[in-house]
Amino acid sequence: MRKFVKKLIGLALMATMVMGAMTGCSSNAASNSGTAGSNTSSTANVQVGIVLPTKDEPRWLQDQKQFETILGDAGFTNQVLFSQGSSATEKTNVETLISKGIDVLIICAQDGAAASAAVEEAKAAGVKVIAYDRLVTGTDAVDYYVTFDSFAVGAAQGQYLIDNAPAGSGIPLYLYAGAATDNNAFIFFEGAWSVLQPKIADGTLVVANSSEAINLKDQAELTREQIGTIIGQITTDWDFNVAKSKAEANLTSASASAKGDVLVLAPNDGTARSIADVFASDKDITSYVITGQDSEKASVQYIIDGKQSMTVFKDTRTLAADSVAMAMNILEGKEPATDTTYNNDKIDVPAKQTSIVVVTKDNVKQALIDSGYYNSSEFTGIK
Ligand code: BGC
Repeated sequence: MRKFVKKLIGLALMATMVMGAMTGCSSNAASNSGTAGSNTSSTANVQVGIVLPTKDEPRWLQDQKQFETILGDAGFTNQVLFSQGSSATEKTNVETLISKGIDVLIICAQDGAAASAAVEEAKAAGVKVIAYDRLVTGTDAVDYYVTFDSFAVGAAQGQYLIDNAPAGSGIPLYLYAGAATDNNAFIFFEGAWSVLQPKIADGTLVVANSSEAINLKDQAELTREQIGTIIGQITTDWDFNVAKSKAEANLTSASASAKGDVLVLAPNDGTARSIADVFASDKDITSYVITGQDSEKASVQYIIDGKQSMTVFKDTRTLAADSVAMAMNILEGKEPATDTTYNNDKIDVPAKQTSIVVVTKDNVKQALIDSGYYNSSEFTGIK
């Protein structure tokens, strides 16, 4: 009973705070969020558990910050745990949260397929599961999905490359992708391919580092398996070091015609910075245009400095607020609002999708500073 009364008070507060988060305001009430990794010594009851993939990418620290602010301010006990690139740790994290009595699990899977075992345990314990940003696949134990429009992310990256390509034809295009264990990596690539493929097919662009992409260049729509074969050649595993070594290997084996003014599809900001550094240090690369996503601080500085061409802003305030609003509905026994579905290879998961914004040197201040996401003092040379 006590828990129920507390929940109702929390729900009213949360409604206010979710609105506050959406408009950029928040207060500073304490939360009990743990950030230590798989285990904490706290025995406190936790209402909403959040599991994120890694602390080592600034993207997920942004999400953590939003969750702690919104849930903490709303008076909900919550805990954020990181899987640190390990599905085993992820499963332990979910079990830890179940043992603390969570009603709702918000999980961003390390590996979409492997996470099915963890969410099935949660479901068996009566916990509602919200997949966050990355879909959990091959299971019916996902109740909802909150995501950005990942196809639009890839399409925006591809379109940026086309719009900023040097004149002429035969322009070298280097393709890189995310981890094959992440469903999003497929959707990002599918979006980019939808825009780039006609220009590859007509010879305007020439893929420099994927024989599989070259084999499939006349095919407008690829199957998941075909995308998988391309990703197999160009994956970064979402790892900066893998991205760096792959770019180095690609440039070492590239012919003279694959150098000069080039285009680079980099899947996110962390990998973009690694790849950009490699391209910048090759004396035979005259210029490069390179994409990114997440609007990480370091990449925003790279954009200001002209070292990265664009990023995609995915406002983590909105995504966290959407999933918290969903959690609130679930706790109230209401059906959360959704606007689409995503098939996870087992069921159509009801989903809430959020749009994205392309950020370049021209709108960085308006998109990221004026919107209150970052402070201009965090950067040098911002206009
Ligand atoms: C997310 C990206 C992130 C990437 C690597 C993807 O699933 O959507 O925002 O950069 O994972 O962590």
